[in-house]
Amino acid sequence: MCGIVGYVGEKRAQDFLVSGLKRLEYRGYDSAGIVTVSEKNEATLIRAKGKISDLERKLIDNRRDDKIGIGHTRWATHGEPSEANAHPHQAGSLYMVHNGIIENCKELKKTLKGHQFKSDTDSEVLVALIDSFYKDGEYLLVDAVVQALKLVQGTYGIAVVSTKNPDEIVVARSGSPLVIGVGQDETLIASDASALVGHTKRAIYLNDGEVAVIKKNSIEIKTLNAEPVSAKVEEIETNLSAIQKGGYDHFLLKEIMEQPDSLVETLRGRVDVDNGLVHLGGPGLSEKELRGIQHLIIVGCGTAYHAGMLAAYYIEQFTPEITIETVIASEYRYRQAYIPKNSVALIVSQSGETADTLACLREIKKQGVKTIGIVNVIGSTIAREVDGGTYVHAGPEISVASTKAFTSQVIAMVMFGMTIAQAKGVRNTILKPYVDEIAKLPDEIKNVLAGNREKVKEIAGKYKKYDHAIYLGRDTAYPTAMEGALKLKEVSYTDANAYAFGELKHGPLALVDDRFFETAFLPKGMLYEKAISNVQEVLARGGHVIAVTNNAKFDLKVDDTIKIDTQLEIFVPILMNLISQLFAYYVTVAKGYNVDQPRNLAKSVTVE
Ligand code: M6R
Repeated sequence: MCGIVGYVGEKRAQDFLVSGLKRLEYRGYDSAGIVTVSEKNEATLIRAKGKISDLERKLIDNRRDDKIGIGHTRWATHGEPSEANAHPHQAGSLYMVHNGIIENCKELKKTLKGHQFKSDTDSEVLVALIDSFYKDGEYLLVDAVVQALKLVQGTYGIAVVSTKNPDEIVVARSGSPLVIGVGQDETLIASDASALVGHTKRAIYLNDGEVAVIKKNSIEIKTLNAEPVSAKVEEIETNLSAIQKGGYDHFLLKEIMEQPDSLVETLRGRVDVDNGLVHLGGPGLSEKELRGIQHLIIVGCGTAYHAGMLAAYYIEQFTPEITIETVIASEYRYRQAYIPKNSVALIVSQSGETADTLACLREIKKQGVKTIGIVNVIGSTIAREVDGGTYVHAGPEISVASTKAFTSQVIAMVMFGMTIAQAKGVRNTILKPYVDEIAKLPDEIKNVLAGNREKVKEIAGKYKKYDHAIYLGRDTAYPTAMEGALKLKEVSYTDANAYAFGELKHGPLALVDDRFFETAFLPKGMLYEKAISNVQEVLARGGHVIAVTNNAKFDLKVDDTIKIDTQLEIFVPILMNLISQLFAYYVTVAKGYNVDQPRNLAKSVTVE
C-alpha cells in the first residue's frame, strides 16, 4: 500500500526513482511523485495524478542529473487522489514521502501554525512537524526526524531529504516496511525489495523504531532512543525474471500459469513420498510441543483467510484431536477471545506486511501463544516477528489478486497439519494418501490449466454481461467458492458472493433470477448428491448455472459445465480454484478493465 523509493549515489537519481516506482506500482497507483536535489541545493519536484506513466510524461521536460532523490506511488488514505495530495510533500527545505497513517494528525496540525498546508494529507502534517524542529538549525535532520516521530501515533515508513544537505536521506519506520539497498558508491531505498532487484543483491531491512542516515557510501542506523544498531546485510533472493511478465499480457495470467512451478518450490525438500511423510524445518517446534498442540488458530485476510479455511477442513480430517479456528485478522485483533492452553497460531500472509494480520500476531504473542508464519515474502515483517515459520516460496506475486500464493499457502498449512499428525502418531495409512496427492498436485495443476484455459475463456465471454454472481460449494468446496467469488469481484467488479450450498434455502435462494449466474463447485465425494440437489433447486428457479465438477458422468442440464479431468480425489477443490482464477481473469479482460491493478485496491494492505 503506497510505495517508497530513494537514491543517493553517482548516477542520475530520476532513473532509479522512476524504474523503482514502476516496480512498486502494484502497491498503490492513484498518484505518484519524485523529488531530486541538485548540488546547488535546488529541488525539482514532479507529481502527477494517475499512473507512473503520467508522471513519466511530465518528466520529459524536467530531466535532471541530480544524484539524490526520493519518490512515492500512492494509495489514498487521507485526501482524494490528486496532484496536491501526491507525495513528496514539502515543508521549508524538506521533502518527505510517507507510507502509513498518522493517527493523531489533527491534534499535531493544530500545533503547526506557521505552515501553510497545501494538501489534505496526514503526511504533510508529519513533514511540517519535522520542519518545525529542523528549521531553526538547532537539530541535525536525523534528530529533527526523531523529535517529530516521538510525537507521532500511527504507522510510518518515511524518507526525508533537505535541500540544505543534498548528500543524505533520512529514513525511519514503524509498521511500514523499508529496505535499504547497499550498492557500489550508491545506496538505494525501497518499501519493497523488488524495486532493488537488478541494482543490488545486498539489503538491510529496517526494523520498527529505527531511523537511518543514508549516504552514498555509508548507512548509520539507530533507534529512536539513540541506541546504535549494527546493520545485518541480507541477500535479496529474487531475480529479475520473477518480477517481469515473461511473455504474458498480464501478471495475473502469468501467476496463474506459474502454479505448477511455484508449488514445486513450496514442496521442495519437504515431501517424502516413499515413506508417506512430510518434513518442515521452519516451524521450530519440538516433537513434544507438536504432540501437545490441542488447538490451532489460523489468522489471515482475504485470500490468505480463505486458504486458512480450506486448510482447516483438510487438517481436521487427519488430526482428530485438535480444534481449529480460522479467523479474519481485522476482527480477531479486537476480540476478547480466549485462547486455550496448548494453542499454536498460524499467521498467513503473502506479503508478510498486512497491518491487521501483523497486529494479530503481536496480540497473540502477548498471550504467550507460539506463532508460526505461513508467509511468502522473505524478510517481511511478519516473517521476522513470528516464533517460527514455513515460507511458502511461491515467488513474487505482483498482480493485486492473489492466486499462486493461495495454492501454496493451503498446501504449506496442510503440511504443517501433517507434521502435527505425525508427532501425534496418526497412522501412516491415514496420511499417505495426502502425501501422494500433494506430490502429484503440480502436474495435475499443469494439466487442468492447459486443458481448460480456452474453454474458460470462451465461457467467460458469455458471462461478462452479468453484474451479479453466486458461488456455491460445500465442505472443502465452500472455501473454494469464497475464494472464487473474491477473485471475480476484485478484478472484474462483478458483485459476487459465496454461500455454502446448505445455506441457500436460508435466504440467498431469494436472489436467483435472470440478473445472476451461479457457479457451482461439485467435487465427487460424500456430499456430492446433496450438492446436486441444491443445484436442482437453483435450476428450478431459473438460475444460470456453471457447474465445475470432476465427475466425468455429470449430465445435469446446466448452462455450462467444466469437467476437470484428474486422478486426484482429496485436493480437487484446489484444481477447481484454478478455474475460478482463469474465469476471473478472462471476464475482466473481456470487460476491458485493468486486471493487474483493480480500482481502489493495492497489493499489500499496510494500513488498518
Ligand atoms: O499479503 P496478504 O496475504 O496478507 O494479503 C491479504 C489480502 O489483502 C489479500 O489476500 C487480498 O485479499 C487479495 N487482493 C486477494 O486477491
